[in-house]
Amino acid sequence: MARRSNLKVVEVPQQEADLRVAENPIKKCKPYNDIDLNNWKDYSNVKTDTLWLFPSRDKSDRHSNEYHGNYIPQLAEQFFERFTKKKDVVLDLFFGSGTSAIEALKMGRRCIGVELKPELAQHVSEKFTPKELVTDVNIIAGDSASEEIKDKIQARLEIMGEEKAQFVVLHPPYDDIIKFSDRKEDLSNCSSPEEFYNMFEKVAQNAYDMLEDGRFAALIIGDEYKNGRCEFLSFFCEQRMEKAGFIPKAVIVKDIQGNERAKGKTANLWRYRALAGGFYIFQHEYVFIFQKDEKARKKYLKMMEKQAV
Ligand SMILES: C[S@@+](CC[C@H](N)C(=O)[O-])C[C@H]1O[C@@H](n2cnc3c(N)ncnc32)[C@H](O)[C@@H]1O
Repeated sequence: MARRSNLKVVEVPQQEADLRVAENPIKKCKPYNDIDLNNWKDYSNVKTDTLWLFPSRDKSDRHSNEYHGNYIPQLAEQFFERFTKKKDVVLDLFFGSGTSAIEALKMGRRCIGVELKPELAQHVSEKFTPKELVTDVNIIAGDSASEEIKDKIQARLEIMGEEKAQFVVLHPPYDDIIKFSDRKEDLSNCSSPEEFYNMFEKVAQNAYDMLEDGRFAALIIGDEYKNGRCEFLSFFCEQRMEKAGFIPKAVIVKDIQGNERAKGKTANLWRYRALAGGFYIFQHEYVFIFQKDEKARKKYLKMMEKQAV
């Protein structure tokens, strides 16, 4: 015979129950974002497909198009909403004009940026108030491929009360398509694609080491034509990310029409060259999403080992 509980069950009218839920909402979120899955239909702005078309660049707040080679802020917005929580620290290892930091602040996140060119790092730091520079944005002038950079990032993380970063943005030079400086550490200054991939791999490894387990990283990159062939910078860099330990989660094709300043006036010339040379004009780049998941990685490596014997 079933034991009868002496707890009295009180029937709550549906309307009152709904009101109680509304007053005490229990959010159903993943550990890496603030998206409430109870209300998932409210997030129509968050992209979940693999073709990203943005009709124009967001120029609001402190965003501007002053830096040739910067990425559009809408990318950062997508990454941060999907893969970070408020107050999380985003680490951008190719900081450039600071798009990640501007968007991070706008969305209540924090940011550490590493940029090779000290004069650019200085210029970008002037976009932020002294208070923001203490609490929310940390800019380091340095080489993201070096071993020493990890100690510098670690020191900044500690100031921010964190052990590791909660998201990583990697937007490297696309080999030498835009030459950012003459420095030998500059990834846009490599003598061959192979050298570029090797330098990128070191940055990928640092990114992996600096990221909290379970968290995500984004790589934004396009391809190039070199020596009469298509050089797939994107897929070779993706491979180096996997070599560093990252688990691939998605590849997104992003439209680049409109944010290619250089080709505007010479469009016809490019079309002629394409017709004459047997190639196609790039109108897209890639966004790869990765996760650091030590447990899943170990499991995968074990499975591969088993398959090899
Ligand atoms: C494609 S841009 C990034 C632009 C940035 N996402 C933005 O929105 O402004 C690449 C940047 O990486 C920097 N860079 C190149 N090699 C580097 C290295 N070894 N360490 C750190 N930064 C590097 C370049 O100076 C350039 O500013």
